[in-house]
Amino acid sequence: MTARQRTVSGMRPTGPLHIGHYFGALKNWVAMQDETEALFFVADWHALTSDYADTSRIDEYVREMVVDWLSVGLDPARCAIYRQSEVKQTAELHLILSMITPLGWLERNPTYKEQQQEITSRDLGNYGFLGYPVLMASDIIQHRPQWVPVGQDQLPHMELTREIVRRFNHLYGEVFPEPQARLTPAAKCPGLDGRKMSKSYGNGIFLKDSLADIEPKVKTMFTDPARLRRSDPGSPEKCNLFPYHTLMTASETQAEIRQGCAAATLGCVDCKKIFLKSLEAFLAPLHERRASILARPRLVDEILMDGNAKARESAEETMRLVRDAVHLV
Ligand code: TRP
Repeated sequence: MTARQRTVSGMRPTGPLHIGHYFGALKNWVAMQDETEALFFVADWHALTSDYADTSRIDEYVREMVVDWLSVGLDPARCAIYRQSEVKQTAELHLILSMITPLGWLERNPTYKEQQQEITSRDLGNYGFLGYPVLMASDIIQHRPQWVPVGQDQLPHMELTREIVRRFNHLYGEVFPEPQARLTPAAKCPGLDGRKMSKSYGNGIFLKDSLADIEPKVKTMFTDPARLRRSDPGSPEKCNLFPYHTLMTASETQAEIRQGCAAATLGCVDCKKIFLKSLEAFLAPLHERRASILARPRLVDEILMDGNAKARESAEETMRLVRDAVHLV
């Protein structure tokens, strides 16, 4: 019998998760906890690569992120949920991998160049920021998984991980399988104002938002900019709201909306009312789970303790092979 395949993935704890995180990643994670043996971690060390100057809220963000994960249906009985910095083996592996990773690979990394240019509010000239993909490779391969569910933007990091694996195996013998990215089908989730949905733009619909929070947000959502009057026909393709109907509204209703918009028989206000209903139906089970999680104040700690122990065990097993292969103790 073949062993169950493994999945590993993580997210940086930088604030509350929004519906873009759900459709872009978490939905896939929830599916993979049943298909494979899955480990998901909160990447608190990774948060330091760019936010090292102020770490005061990191503990709060870690906990909030776990609550968000549980609310969408990640289930600690079916996957391990842990905190990166609780598994010190990751740092040991990172040190070894940093010795065999050529600087040129890191300097050529497109995300490195891009973020150096884009993020001007903080100084990103630090060693850890350049080494981000080496730490990410360590996170992944310490559990020797086959699968890593990530978004398109992480593909360069996945390629680097595979290159590091090949180099390690070439130098020291076959210890690691080459992990593969498992892409989340591209879900278009624009923010309320049409830009990318992001906490820092203040244009997000968050998983924890109450119905009272979402109603005014949906009212401000941009629709087809060419549709100035109710009597103007619109095009769902140019509308910022319509992609959400494709994710959350029943397909017959979607077809009616398409027609009604194009024929100007359905106005944006009514279309938003339909969306609000879909959103409420989507969020209701999440809010129910959230309430029962928050009613048990020790739960998140217990889940993390259990997940940390499982992750440590798996990482330690790999590290024994690594230390052996590299002739270290
Ligand atoms: N780099 C990922 C992101 O920004 C987060 C991450 C860190 C990760 N380590 C990982 C994702 C390991 C998958 C596997 O989204």
